[in-house]
Amino acid sequence: MARNKPSWSKRMASRACLAAVTLASRQTSVSAFARSGSSSTGSRSLSTISRRCATNARKPSGASPVISSFSSNSIRSSLFQIRMSSTEAAEATEVETNTPSPRRVKTVDAEVSEDPVSIKGWVRTVRKQKTLAFVEVNDGSSMSGIQCVLPFDAIDEATLGEIENLTTGCSVHAIGNIVKSQGGKQSVELSATSLRIVGSCPGETFPLAKKRHSLEYLRTIAHLRPRTNTIAAVARVRSTLAGSIHAFFQDEGFNYVQTPLITASDCEGAGEMFRVTTLDTDNVESLPRAKDDDGNELPGVDYGEDFFGKAAFLTVSGQLGGETHACALGDVYTFGPTFRAENSQTTRHLAEFWMVEPEMAFADLTSAMDNAEAMLKSVVGVALDKCDEDLTFFAKFFDKGLKDRLQKLVSKPFVRLPYRDAIKYLQEEIAKDPSKWQFPDVEFGTDLATEHERWLAEKKFESAVFVYNYPKKIKAFYMRDNDEDGGETVNAMDLLVPGVGELVGGSQREERMDVLVDKMRELDLDEDDYWWYLDLRRFGSVPHSGYGLGFERLVTYVCGIENIRDAIAFPRYPGSAEF
Ligand code: 4AD
Ligand code: MG
Repeated sequence: MARNKPSWSKRMASRACLAAVTLASRQTSVSAFARSGSSSTGSRSLSTISRRCATNARKPSGASPVISSFSSNSIRSSLFQIRMSSTEAAEATEVETNTPSPRRVKTVDAEVSEDPVSIKGWVRTVRKQKTLAFVEVNDGSSMSGIQCVLPFDAIDEATLGEIENLTTGCSVHAIGNIVKSQGGKQSVELSATSLRIVGSCPGETFPLAKKRHSLEYLRTIAHLRPRTNTIAAVARVRSTLAGSIHAFFQDEGFNYVQTPLITASDCEGAGEMFRVTTLDTDNVESLPRAKDDDGNELPGVDYGEDFFGKAAFLTVSGQLGGETHACALGDVYTFGPTFRAENSQTTRHLAEFWMVEPEMAFADLTSAMDNAEAMLKSVVGVALDKCDEDLTFFAKFFDKGLKDRLQKLVSKPFVRLPYRDAIKYLQEEIAKDPSKWQFPDVEFGTDLATEHERWLAEKKFESAVFVYNYPKKIKAFYMRDNDEDGGETVNAMDLLVPGVGELVGGSQREERMDVLVDKMRELDLDEDDYWWYLDLRRFGSVPHSGYGLGFERLVTYVCGIENIRDAIAFPRYPGSAEF
């Protein structure tokens, strides 16, 4: 007989887990589509190109000093990029790789060059004067991009024509020498001899004007927003942070473990999970009904008939899987997406977010705090070092004190504060004027709200603060009971930082079989569902600890931006899964 839903999952289902992640059977042959779409336009553009090349080749030499800096091949390669559709442009790039063209330089690496170079990117601004044009090109590798200076008497005719059609948003290929800049704004510029539009951009419909757009508006065009200074800078900082997190753990000898995204276990026990099913939820009548041992129908669905033979969900944390590997490899970490179906429309919550979760064997809570502190100091230090241009921008437009705050995080020891003391400090502060607080009732057992966390980090200590030894009843089942402290607390910690509140949550894990089983029973968790997790305690159990760092919260913290929805390419939150 198919198994009924386990008790924990019943409990969770009643909390109205939002969406079923139904695996649709629709399939599209992507490669076939891509091929058929491009071939005919491709050959047409090539014949146009060769005609144009021939015309240009007949021009007397010297008529266009620009062209003289190109080989005939590069003339061919650059000329055929005139006004192409995106498919054509994609093909052009392909063809072009077969032809020598000046070395491509990313604007971030631009320095004075003897030889001509290629710059490829998107036009930010075009300024035409009597005798020359300035075109600011951004290729995404830096905030500033590069200014291309095009003197009309030094460029070929085709470039003159292109300048007429240049608009903000066009993709372009410019060729020239990088020279010391005449203007004060940038150190180098491209003294361009040629410029071709790769993809045009109709100004009337392009949703990004030159003015500053609000971040709210940009979220509605998340596919184009990386072309703005702010979102491109976030993406670069995010990438640097991801790289430095891996570097930190790899240098420390941690193994990177990829834990599954589809799971049957609710790690945090909060029941905020998205269901994964192939059952036909469009056809409710067809859903297999759960039955008791006598074959009587029960409320609910029999997930024994579902794809995995049991109820399955998107994971809220990779921790439990991480523990299995820590209890074999010693020190491991996961870094991947996690999912929570919590209905919160806050600036700190996403339904899909990335978490970094180290797990260490033979380690107590203090080791976990030490590791979290060292890791954060390291990765923020790298960001300060490598992302100066972007952080300077964020400091100018979003958070004046940003760099000081980050410097402080790197150089000052984090405060470590028992939860009981945190409550005492909060009570004293709230008593001064309770009306200032949204949640003025704070006592032992209170789950701290963001306003409490931020007050501790921003006002009381002006520092990152580990709060540890939380009350048992507000924390997850796997956290180790504190032997001291009257049995009321667990070895858990949260790291609170200014501007964000909780950035990290972690704990020492309960490694004692009997204590863990008792805790699970208290919370009505079915031991059968966690048989493999309990095996870790059965066979060679070991004290171990770990934590989870919310990656997008780190990105908002380092960039000094308000809303977590701007810290990830395509934010997922209640009511929004566009793009
Ligand atoms: O405190 P949490 O829930 O801890 C865990 O999931 C543990 N299993 C981690 C572990 O010990 N391995 O989540 C960890 C961190 C939080 O401190 C927060 O930064 C972030 O994940 N986080 C979220 N970030 C964005 N959106 C959400 N909905 C988040 N929920 C948690
Ligand atoms: Mg937490």
